[in-house]
Amino acid sequence: MTFQPAEWPRKLRSQEWFGGDSRDHIYHRSWMKNQGLPADLFDGRPVIGICNTWSQLTPCNAHLRDLAERVKHGIYEAGGLPLEFPVFSTGESALRPTAMMYRNLAAMDVEEALRANPLDGVVLLCGCDKTTPALLMGAASVDLPAIMVSGGPMMNGWFRGERVGSGTALWQMSEDIKAGKMTREDFLEAEQAMSRSPGSCNTMGTASSMASMVEALGMALSGNAAIPAVDSRRRVMSHVTGRRIVQMVKDDLKPSDVLTRDAFENAIRTNGAIGGSTNAVIHLMAIAGRVGIDLTLDDWDTFGRDVPTIVNLMPSGKYLMEEFFYAGGLPVVIKRLGEAGLLNRDALTVSGDTAWDQVKDAVNYNEDVILPADIPLAKQGGIAVLRGNLAPKGAVLKPSAASPHLLKHRGRAVVFEDIDDYKARINDDDLDIDETCVMVLKMCGPRGYPGMSEVGNMGLPPKVLKKGITDMVRISDARMSGTAYGTVVLHTSPEAAAGGPLAIVQNGDMIELDMPNRRLHLDVSDAEIARRLAAWQNPIVPPPSGYARLFHDHVQGAETGADFDFLVGCRGNAVPKDSH
Ligand code: FES
Repeated sequence: MTFQPAEWPRKLRSQEWFGGDSRDHIYHRSWMKNQGLPADLFDGRPVIGICNTWSQLTPCNAHLRDLAERVKHGIYEAGGLPLEFPVFSTGESALRPTAMMYRNLAAMDVEEALRANPLDGVVLLCGCDKTTPALLMGAASVDLPAIMVSGGPMMNGWFRGERVGSGTALWQMSEDIKAGKMTREDFLEAEQAMSRSPGSCNTMGTASSMASMVEALGMALSGNAAIPAVDSRRRVMSHVTGRRIVQMVKDDLKPSDVLTRDAFENAIRTNGAIGGSTNAVIHLMAIAGRVGIDLTLDDWDTFGRDVPTIVNLMPSGKYLMEEFFYAGGLPVVIKRLGEAGLLNRDALTVSGDTAWDQVKDAVNYNEDVILPADIPLAKQGGIAVLRGNLAPKGAVLKPSAASPHLLKHRGRAVVFEDIDDYKARINDDDLDIDETCVMVLKMCGPRGYPGMSEVGNMGLPPKVLKKGITDMVRISDARMSGTAYGTVVLHTSPEAAAGGPLAIVQNGDMIELDMPNRRLHLDVSDAEIARRLAAWQNPIVPPPSGYARLFHDHVQGAETGADFDFLVGCRGNAVPKDSH
């Protein structure tokens, strides 16, 4: 259905606060004026929130105040009133036990801040992994006009003439140390080289994947995903986004107009083409839940299965986000999907144009970075969704990051009951394990960790690494950093802490991974599985109080996006009662 812009001028939501001469209107305006805002800024023009996840505790977003100023320029220029406000910033690199535990908290913060304040629209400023889905989830549940600007990736990391990608290099180097191939001094020297400018991770990790998802969903202007954080064009993107949100408010172009089923299908296919993070699966399903789109785990296999990965970026490939930008960025990839009949071309975007109109003139400037379709990085680049008696509600695997020879594998289970058990035993040379075994890690799902940490790509035992082996089949209910790689089965559902079959796997059980047939099988009889499940006792003790208790009681499974049960859906933007 074609979008029909609303009539303009009309009375906006913010006028419920500012548009009158009652005591309450004066109260709302007068306090605002202590910031030096002239009276005519309250005359009925669009009031635009700038929702900022800036924080020095989220280093990937530490430059967002500069971008907020650029957004303000655009808003003023287009005749709006910008008002910047902070929300909880879910920084990936510092928050414990994991930033994912706070994604839903941040989404609640965003939702309530948007609804309770005198706002007509919002620009969402994000960057680090969880900040992007949190802001989109919150904004989708309010459904005021909203547009996103990502902070952009860091410049390429370089160490002794080699590219070092955020996260990816860290995983590689820490394995090299265990294998005796790198010294700790060299590792420390590489530390600064990995992070040499403002911005988010420069690999196609979760931050870059989610920035690409936002663009593919149509919630950001075309080209948003790849512009480096320090490139002047990132500031330009912020400036023109500020202009655009004012028109979106006048047109009443809302997230529910953009976040359609077609948009999610476009995003799933795009994730396959970029070799994107498995974390995108969880986040997109949570966002879809906020707008009432019934997106399932199986949709990821249906729509992503045959999409070749054509973006040659770490962790699956060779280059980094800076080079992706120079090659033409995401518009080239989306155009390629459109040419292959894999794009819902008419999907509306925040620009007011369709998905296809935005990209049809894109040019690929480097065919080694964005590969030709006939020589992709992986022929089936999407996320494989596995099922079987070990994962009745599904599990995921990223084939493009896996070793082809392990995608069909049967091996003896070596079980770690939780992450502490893994840490205590993995470096023990007496551990009964070799490269044919299947490493199993329990209690790392949403409720088990809690928060579903990115430990699914558990490092291999040193005695295996020393043989020159770099990959083994690993299975858990955890997530994996988008910067990581390996034959790693993730998000196994139901999680162990919810009594899923993962909880009863024992050392010595045989496990079959059959990626081509999407099967994950525990070779133990149904009767024995039932017997073990009946005898199983959950080791998780619910926290007595606080946010941790709320999280424990309400987080849903990874297979639906790990949102809180009471946050699913859109609650709208009706103006709350006045405060006096
Ligand atoms: Fe923040 Fe990677 S740790 S983007």
